[in-house]
Amino acid sequence: MKAKKIVIGNWKMSPHTRGEAKSLFDSVKKKVTSVKKTNVVVCPPFVFLGMLAGSLRSKNISLGGQDVFYKSRGSHTGEVSADMLSDSRAEYVIVGHSERRALGEDDEIVAKKAIQAVTDGLSVIICIGEDKRDESGKYLSVLSEELKNSLYKFPQQHLNKLIVAYEPIWAIGKTTFDAMSPADIEGTVIFIRKTLSLMYGKERASTIPIIYGGSVTVGNAKSLITDGGISGFLVGHESLIASNFNEIISIVEHA
Ligand code: PGA
Repeated sequence: MKAKKIVIGNWKMSPHTRGEAKSLFDSVKKKVTSVKKTNVVVCPPFVFLGMLAGSLRSKNISLGGQDVFYKSRGSHTGEVSADMLSDSRAEYVIVGHSERRALGEDDEIVAKKAIQAVTDGLSVIICIGEDKRDESGKYLSVLSEELKNSLYKFPQQHLNKLIVAYEPIWAIGKTTFDAMSPADIEGTVIFIRKTLSLMYGKERASTIPIIYGGSVTVGNAKSLITDGGISGFLVGHESLIASNFNEIISIVEHA
């Protein structure tokens, strides 16, 4: 059976009220009733998870956290454990998003979070991406090092719960025309897949979904999914506009 495509909405620190969060989620829920070949995941701020979980009935949509702590118990003010996410019916968690790395989260912390989350049963979306592209191709070693270090000691029996999100930092939060070109994404995906093959062997590496994030919009989703060699998208700002996010889901579903 062909693996399902994946569309993940990363709401970041939005929307600002429970009411807005509910109506956005309701709209996506309605959309996914007609979706068969795509896994849709919504990652709201922690405080909305419980409320949204209460109305989660469909198998076609899942919830995810935007971060998680690397310990399961203890006095850690402000942190949220993988257990708590699961108890709020989150099945996924984003780990190592560039906006968290910019606040000081390094590969070592990312690796610890990934291990804790997957051991506690969550599927882990590991984010990697270079901050700039240089002509000499240095960014490739930046990427492979970031990937290897972020997955340091990742338990191999849980590789089926790993998704790699490639998000070039320079392409995040912009417009349709600022996303990476499909050809460049395709080349980078081949490189990431090669790195994963060196880590886990070709066969297992071939089953790990690699998705793209960075200014995915209604305007570019079709060419990115058709020619980018990816399994889906991690969508930021467009996931906050229900009609646009739903349209991106349709595009992926029919690609
Ligand atoms: P963007 O964000 O779609 O707004 O570029 C993507 C992300 O940061 O995950």
